[in-house]
Amino acid sequence: MIALHADLLDFPQAPAWGETGPQGVRWRPGHWLLVGDDGRITGVQAEAPGPEWPREDHPGRLLLPGFVDTHVHSPQLDVIASYGTELLDWLHTYTFPAERAWADPAVAAAGSALFLDALLAHGTTAAVVFPTVHKGSADALFEAASQRGMRIIAGKVLMDRHAPDGLRDDVAGAERDCIDLIQRWHGRGRNAYAVTVRFAPTSTPEQLAMAGALCHADPTLYMQTHVAENRDEVRWVAELFPQARSYLDVYAGAGLLHPRSVLAHGIWLNADDRAALRDAGAQIAFCPSSNLFLGSGLFDWPATAAAGVQVSVASDVGGGTSLSMQRTLADGYKVQASLGKGTGHDLSAWCALHAATRGAAEALHLGHEIGLLEPGLMADLCLWDWAVGAVDGRRQQVARDLHEKVFAWMLLADERHLVRTWVAGRPLYERTSA
Ligand code: GUN
Ligand code: ZN
Repeated sequence: MIALHADLLDFPQAPAWGETGPQGVRWRPGHWLLVGDDGRITGVQAEAPGPEWPREDHPGRLLLPGFVDTHVHSPQLDVIASYGTELLDWLHTYTFPAERAWADPAVAAAGSALFLDALLAHGTTAAVVFPTVHKGSADALFEAASQRGMRIIAGKVLMDRHAPDGLRDDVAGAERDCIDLIQRWHGRGRNAYAVTVRFAPTSTPEQLAMAGALCHADPTLYMQTHVAENRDEVRWVAELFPQARSYLDVYAGAGLLHPRSVLAHGIWLNADDRAALRDAGAQIAFCPSSNLFLGSGLFDWPATAAAGVQVSVASDVGGGTSLSMQRTLADGYKVQASLGKGTGHDLSAWCALHAATRGAAEALHLGHEIGLLEPGLMADLCLWDWAVGAVDGRRQQVARDLHEKVFAWMLLADERHLVRTWVAGRPLYERTSA
């Protein structure tokens, strides 16, 4: 057990869009967070705990629930920041060749360990992850996650067409692999299985139907995919599925939209699509860094939220250029600003940080486990410096209220500000330089 003393910030309620006042946030400066031997938070209090508690005192540092990255690719650290392409070219030029290497279990094991340690070194303690088409890539990820005790949702990627040799499965073999992986990993420790359709162009209608049947057979399974990211992609899907009303409708028709569905991007959706997402209880993972880097487009968060759709935030590395959730949220602010300053598009620090913690946890039906600094929840935590340099130090000095201070931190901080990360009360990342 351990008692941590720091400035505690979390978001028990969803802040209203544009809300910057103190009611949108729970701010407990200079409080003690108590963590039990079972890895759960046992209390939060202003007064120092009794002498039986080992203590860590971090005055003037910020303690947050660990970040939740709802869409990220474990094999794509090798292609992060690859030059000069949009989505479909990017996949064929950089990404598919890199993913082919994960057929080798040793590559998948080493890559998964590197990837999860990198998440922890950015303050991310839970993630919804795409490995590769290879069954062993999912095994390697779940094994590495189990060693660390991290909350990981993932599944072998389904792709049985329009992908190069060495990266295609087939319906029967993929179904067998999924069933075996589900039996061995779903609900084991903190692992959960996601039926993982890469995107509509790389699955035949038969494979989509098989994926939908898996979801139907076990409603506790997650589903993850990409949707309406890029205009050429949307046109291609319309050619491949002429009978579908829209790109999203391809997934709806296959039974893939449900309350545990996480669909990345959703930039090019219309009102009918948003209504279908809302009715299904599915969520969109907004990936601003990736959308800017690949030139995919500007996701309209307030319009999507106003339609009743849950929105979380994700790095989408390697389309995204950083695992840092602060950098991702800063890009998210800039995307919304590009859609229109003063027209209700300004992304508050409260909305952004709620979406990256409590909001994602609730959308994933994990609100009882992660996302808040609350007794009973797992002690998945990250501890941050408010500033590490002269510029952000000065900005913190002159901030006039809490939102200004946290907003400036969100825009200026990154992994250099991370002091320590705990998973289930165990410190798994520690910054070595001051
Ligand atoms: N669409 C299909 N596959 C991918 C991928 O790996 N990254 C992104 N950003 N979009 C995709
Ligand atoms: Zn992606």
